[in-house]
Amino acid sequence: MSGGFEVGVVGAGYVGLATGACLAHVGHRVTCLDRDEERVARLEGGRMPLYEPGLGGLVARGVRGGRLAFAASGDLPEVARKSDVVFIAVDTPQGEDGSADLSNVAEVARGIGRALAQAPLDKAALDEAPLQARPLVVVNKSTVPVGSGDYVSMLVRDGADEVGGGGEEPGFLVVSNPEFLREGSAVYDSLFPDRIVVGTESREALEVLRALYRPIIEQSFPTDLDPRPKVAVPFVTTDLASAEMIKYAANAFLATKISFMNEISNLCELVGADVTEVATGIGLDGRIGARFLNAGIGWGGSCFPKDVSALRAVAREYDYESVLLDATVDVNEKQRKQVISKLQRDLHTLKGKRVALLGLAFKPNTDDLRGAPSLEIARSLDSLGARVVGYDPVAGKAAARRLPTLRVAFDPYEALGGAHAAVVVTEWGEIRSLDLGRAADLMQEPKVLVDGRNALDPEAARAGGLLYRGFGRG
Ligand code: UDX
Repeated sequence: MSGGFEVGVVGAGYVGLATGACLAHVGHRVTCLDRDEERVARLEGGRMPLYEPGLGGLVARGVRGGRLAFAASGDLPEVARKSDVVFIAVDTPQGEDGSADLSNVAEVARGIGRALAQAPLDKAALDEAPLQARPLVVVNKSTVPVGSGDYVSMLVRDGADEVGGGGEEPGFLVVSNPEFLREGSAVYDSLFPDRIVVGTESREALEVLRALYRPIIEQSFPTDLDPRPKVAVPFVTTDLASAEMIKYAANAFLATKISFMNEISNLCELVGADVTEVATGIGLDGRIGARFLNAGIGWGGSCFPKDVSALRAVAREYDYESVLLDATVDVNEKQRKQVISKLQRDLHTLKGKRVALLGLAFKPNTDDLRGAPSLEIARSLDSLGARVVGYDPVAGKAAARRLPTLRVAFDPYEALGGAHAAVVVTEWGEIRSLDLGRAADLMQEPKVLVDGRNALDPEAARAGGLLYRGFGRG
């Protein structure tokens, strides 16, 4: 595969863009499609539609090198016909009953079916973009309920039937290739993944994916992105349903790990222990592992809430009582409310009190506000009569649009000016390294600091003149 593969990626969000840019970086020719034409125009003009460290540079490199292009979804027929592999990387938002809404995936799968069944547009188009070896490998990266692989196959066939596929099977194979990238480190996670999971019933499709990912599996691509020693990336092959379940189980496990730690944190407060010490002590046990043990106001974002909820919906469908997943969500909801009770303990009434929210994005290094605790906390404070000022290095403007009552400050110190209390909601580096003495000087009594991420040093905060309140810290 000297020239690499011809790849189409439908959906230019976090997953699609990171996948497309990284596959281009390791030597394939990639076209990323999106139905949002404004987004496509921005990308073509070299402007990123989202904040993701390192991704803009990689996209620019791919475009400059002629290996990465963008197109509107209307071009799906051409792209599907010339590609060896087409990725479906569109969102599957949470439906009203908590289950995953598959309408975007369905639209793309049908479109691929229609493209495969249609004759090539004209001779000139064919000469420019010769048909690749069939069958086309359709890779689903969108998070879909277990069992959806078969559903995607059905939809591709439906699409082919719509244009009179003539009853003949369009040549395609479906693969599930779940995505584990984290926002804020999407490039790193795509190029240096812990594992690549591929689920399919077809050996042929499996080998196409193995060849596609070979530069990443072997870590043989040129990189100045990371000095990580080259170790082979495990390539996990399984059936479609298991691949889909791996995605849900991974996210549900991580959410449960955090909720577990939050429950321990609440017990730590009762018995006078420090949860950060407990996390260090248990994290050194290789069976437990040190990551994702940070207690605080809990998990949010675009994946954990949606995926845990979709897994619970699957359980309901099979009349299975998902006791542990239900508890994971309960604990998480209670953690956010604790911010309010901690503030009330020191401030008593919140009416007329000024509260600074430090960090608004759902986690550091992203501008994403989906599932962000900041918005929920700001709404609660607002309804209790407090005046809320927020600060975030990148998500401030978007937060103000989402919540018109939220005043957004230019820097953390402006937010802290005259505040009775401050809440660390998102532990950006800038907030971790806050000058705590300066913060205290700017605030008014009782100068409460609720550290929702246990990100600051309690001693330093107290020495600086703040009334420090962490989570589970004695
Ligand atoms: C997650 C998964 O990690 C990724 O593999 C998947 O594909 C998409 O969902 P992401 O949502 O980007 O990625 O964020 P992640 O870094 O996993 O954090 C999720 C949430 O957990 C955040 O709200 C974070 O603040 C919270 N968290 C994380 C904790 O509260 N404590 C921790 O110890 C770790």
